[in-house]
Amino acid sequence: AGQQAMFTEQLPTLAELGVLDMRGGGRTALWVRNASHRFQENMGPANTLAYQEAGSSRTYLGPVIIARKGVPFELKVRNAAECHPLASAIDSELIPRGSNDAKRPRTSVHLHGGNVSPQSDGGPDQAFAPGDSYTYHYGNNQEAAGLWYHDHALGMTRLNVYAGLAGSYLLRDGIDTGDGTQLPPPPYEVPLIIQDKMFNPDGTLAYPPNPDLKGPDGAPRPWAPEFFGDVATVNGKVRPNLDVARGRYRFRVFNGSNARFYDFTFDAGGPALAFYQIGSDGGLLNAPVRLDRLVIGPGERADLVVDFAGLRAGSRVVLRNSARVPYPDGPESVAGGAIPLPQVMQFTVTSRTGYTVPLPARLRDKGGEVTSLREAAPAKIRRMALVEVANTDGVPVMALLNNRMFDSPDTTEVEGDTLEQWELINTTEDAHPIHLHFTQFQVLNRQKFHADAYLEETGYIDPATGLVTPGRGKAVEVERFLIGRPRDAAANEQGWKDTVVALPGEVTRIRVPFGAGAAGGKPLAIGSSFKGDYVWHCHILEHEDNDMMQRYTIK
Ligand code: C2O
Ligand code: CU
Repeated sequence: AGQQAMFTEQLPTLAELGVLDMRGGGRTALWVRNASHRFQENMGPANTLAYQEAGSSRTYLGPVIIARKGVPFELKVRNAAECHPLASAIDSELIPRGSNDAKRPRTSVHLHGGNVSPQSDGGPDQAFAPGDSYTYHYGNNQEAAGLWYHDHALGMTRLNVYAGLAGSYLLRDGIDTGDGTQLPPPPYEVPLIIQDKMFNPDGTLAYPPNPDLKGPDGAPRPWAPEFFGDVATVNGKVRPNLDVARGRYRFRVFNGSNARFYDFTFDAGGPALAFYQIGSDGGLLNAPVRLDRLVIGPGERADLVVDFAGLRAGSRVVLRNSARVPYPDGPESVAGGAIPLPQVMQFTVTSRTGYTVPLPARLRDKGGEVTSLREAAPAKIRRMALVEVANTDGVPVMALLNNRMFDSPDTTEVEGDTLEQWELINTTEDAHPIHLHFTQFQVLNRQKFHADAYLEETGYIDPATGLVTPGRGKAVEVERFLIGRPRDAAANEQGWKDTVVALPGEVTRIRVPFGAGAAGGKPLAIGSSFKGDYVWHCHILEHEDNDMMQRYTIK
């Protein structure tokens, strides 16, 4: 495991698909196709899926879609896949039980972080078969941000994203880069799509079955509670190197991994190189936040500025990860597999001088700061429980939200254009990155609670059978179980978010606007209101597929 070379690949520059010149009514198209991709020069090719624009022969991921705030366009996606490259990993026990066919892989394209209508959301119910196409309307009526698009087919998301169906979507405006602001512009602005992988000796992608969980036929189930690879890839290459000029870079970091959290440092040999976070999932922060390390969960993005000007030519900086798996308290290593993933990529400092314009002290104009939802009164407070379910042998069989499977008829109904507070009660032993479609929210605070006592009372897990007990589980008042005082969101989380890390044994409180009018006319990251059905879910893709995803409806 992990025998692949270190830093021998150059970081690929992801091709851009610009839609900046479109003045509304513009269209662009992508095809989902089977491909064959080398994650490393001297490794055999892997069977993958890729998003290809006209004339592209891309073999992994999709183009960086460059969109402009306020300029809508249509994206037509044609499913031209012929088979699934990870056929043996398809698990017919998962919803939609038995109807995912390796010979006819369905796909649905979700714009993650996008303020889009239900019809254009690309949710799990909107997957379409080979030969069909689907047209998404993107209004881009929201703040400039590093969004991303990826597959969302029901019961298949973990395998489709793992096979390559993901891409970044940079929504720009006049304040954001490219318009003469002080933030590093391309080529000093670099998207980094970070994913962990596991390879078979022939270079194909491995997605091992779960030896602990047997299917009805007695064979190991293909589904496992989390996929953790033993090698990092960035933009589709194994542990690549990027030669950097002496100056500032803006890294648009996407955690596109199935289940892995990262705790990043920039290791320059001595003390870790300090860097700045300038933006979160949904847009710029008010001011740069100086950091020594960054924790980022699956689905989250971070907009970072790193300055290489103080380093000598020839210096090497390693993007290093120290997060355990499962995050945050998993074992340091697991017998038979080097699960930690210390080296992600390398930066080699050249003698060239690059972009040296100082980072502005404020990232937003006076009056254009992030509207704080802290003082607003939420129309409703909802308690949402995150639950893991094990069988009698203590083997995890699924994860749930509020004790409900995805095909449960219950849905959460919210009033359009209202602000709600959701309290994510994490009863499990691991962190879950919770994502809501349609909107951008804010993290209010986090607070520890007595998870065991709470679980005992709510009966989410039957102590006798270890199985979920439908009907008994209710997100009861959590107040009695709270410990100490809430902790405010960290400075680099005090911006717009669409995915939040809910730590184990904690209640994570978020303030969620369900429409552009949710803060009484004050500006939000989203500019549109829609009614209809969306989903919210854990962004650990194995959890999302089984079955930590729920519908919600905006009335
Ligand atoms: Cu990034 Cu519902 O997904
Ligand atoms: Cu989860």
